Amino acid sequence: MAEVKVGFYGHVRQYHNLQKEIDGAIHGVLESGTYVLGPKVKQFEQELAAYCHAKEAVGVNSGTDALWLVLIAWGIGPGDEVITTSNTFFATAEAIWLAGATPVFVDIDPKTCNLDVNLIEAAISPRTKAIIPVHLYGQAAKMRQVAAIAKAHKLRIIEDNAQALGARGDDFAIGEFGDAVATSFIIQKNLGCFGDGGAVVTNDSDLATQVRKLRGHGSLKRSHHSIGYNSRLDELHGAVLSIKLKHLDEWNDLRRARAQEFDAGLAGTSVTLPTALPGYRHVYHLYVVETDDRDGLQTYLQAQGIVALTHYPIAIHQQEGYPWGRDARISGSLQHTEKSAACVLSLPMYPELTSEEVKYTVEAIRAWDKARGK
Ligand SMILES: Cc1ncc(COP(=O)(O)O)c(C=O)c1O
Repeated sequence: MAEVKVGFYGHVRQYHNLQKEIDGAIHGVLESGTYVLGPKVKQFEQELAAYCHAKEAVGVNSGTDALWLVLIAWGIGPGDEVITTSNTFFATAEAIWLAGATPVFVDIDPKTCNLDVNLIEAAISPRTKAIIPVHLYGQAAKMRQVAAIAKAHKLRIIEDNAQALGARGDDFAIGEFGDAVATSFIIQKNLGCFGDGGAVVTNDSDLATQVRKLRGHGSLKRSHHSIGYNSRLDELHGAVLSIKLKHLDEWNDLRRARAQEFDAGLAGTSVTLPTALPGYRHVYHLYVVETDDRDGLQTYLQAQGIVALTHYPIAIHQQEGYPWGRDARISGSLQHTEKSAACVLSLPMYPELTSEEVKYTVEAIRAWDKARGK
């Protein structure tokens, strides 16, 4: 591989920008002697709930656990179906399988790559209990329509918001229509800690209490247990996330600004650009283009020192061994999901990405087009 000129992630730059504050906070936690589920996690939970305009946030070990623990808290398990998309990170469906329930996959809207809300109703069966829309790549799914269907069929909604913290719909907020929102804080997310972390955000205080209990070995009171799990958020992460949350809107604005530069620079090239729905605040967790020669473009960029990655080149239902002896159902065709998997390429996108790096990437794509006679 050529020397890296434009890397895919910006989190080390982000750390350097906030180093003094972060190092101080980490030192403070180390000296405090409290390392798991202490005051820093509590403070961050309150800040996150306020940021999301929700009553409660419950810190857990990962985004996967956030999804899974909500399903468990609701008693969704064997025999139940949960509608979602196959064009997402594996964990969305994995959480459904871990709960013992059956994922039901519907196709995506090829423009946004989010769940096609027009296909949900046909996927509903007497066993359906919930819908998990994913706010993929940083853009909210069409929640108003999802909510109307959920209401008509008495289904619950968990919004998988691992990728879109700080995003908005045109006339709605993430979490406004869902019964719960699950988010992830792994470092490559828009709000990332230095390891694994996640949270459930909800207006349902009973659900929040249930998840709090489940995350700590089924215990809300010392020495009193029922069966739960160990899914706690560490103090170091709580402290770091509190510092970073203050910058999230500004970072998302920077992502949007770099996305606009990509949009302008790549207009008229052979690659298909991401669609931002009118009025939506897309926060570009990823800037994903589509091309009929994805592998060719990725290799070309690599030779220019530009790291581009794929999200997600193998849809969940296309994974080897699927569904591993578990139940799964595909509703209708997943043709758009499969086409997207074959064509998508994520260009570098992070708040610390410079305009010069965007320009260099744009020029490389234009040169690639030229070399192909496009
Ligand atoms: C859409 C989506 N859902 C769920 C997850 C799972 O989050 P985590 O890796 O924190 O378990 C991720 C991220 O990895 C994701 O992108």
